[in-house]
Amino acid sequence: MAPRKLAAGNWKMNGDLAALDQLDDMAAAAEGATCDVLICPPALLIHPMMARIGASDLLVGGQDCHHADKGAHTGDIAALQLRDAGATHVILGHSERRADHGETDAMVRAKAQAAHAAGLTAIICVGETEAERDADRTLDVIATQLAGSVPDGANARNTVLAYEPVWAIGTGRTPTLDQIAQVHALMRDHLSARLSDGADVALLYGGSVKPANAAEIFAIAHVNGALVGGASLKAADFVPIIMALD
Ligand code: G3P
Repeated sequence: MAPRKLAAGNWKMNGDLAALDQLDDMAAAAEGATCDVLICPPALLIHPMMARIGASDLLVGGQDCHHADKGAHTGDIAALQLRDAGATHVILGHSERRADHGETDAMVRAKAQAAHAAGLTAIICVGETEAERDADRTLDVIATQLAGSVPDGANARNTVLAYEPVWAIGTGRTPTLDQIAQVHALMRDHLSARLSDGADVALLYGGSVKPANAAEIFAIAHVNGALVGGASLKAADFVPIIMALD
């Protein structure tokens, strides 16, 4: 089995009921596509999104989950609740969660275990800051995040990894193709050494992906798709990215 290609959109804290109009063209692009197409809207929009897309091939995901399956955790969402709402995936350890909510590798690993137990595919994010890259620490940082964030129960069916350099998110800046290739090779080696099907885990790149640069990024070895922020909000931007991957 080869890694399954995935075009994933992370709407972050953007979007409202009117934004669901964008889904019609995205769902049409997902029909018959050879890649999976996923939108992770704010949790409040998951139910209306499910109603809007009906039996479409478009997949729906969450942006975070708690490590517990239920209980007294005000404001949090359990992986089982995401699954119950119709989600198939959940983004975990995004750098904005790590920065805004102090999420550590151990917390991300616990959330991934909860996601797996709930039957969700965990999209585990790793990435270096600009200071870490400037200090030539990128590969060490990624290796540490992988070792700490990816649980032993991970496999190609329940886990996707996303490399998102923090300095490339929402900035319009991207690493060179060689820099992306270097980190993706590291991720593939790490997974192949740890998991029996590590060669088949899908690896995404994220950070200022747009229609103009998608094709060259998808041509890099071990890049099996993208985790897209700003350019996933509008069908006019996201559909060409899906087409570039398909
Ligand atoms: O999770 C996706 C993200 O962090 C990248 O955002 O806006 O640079 O595509 P953006």
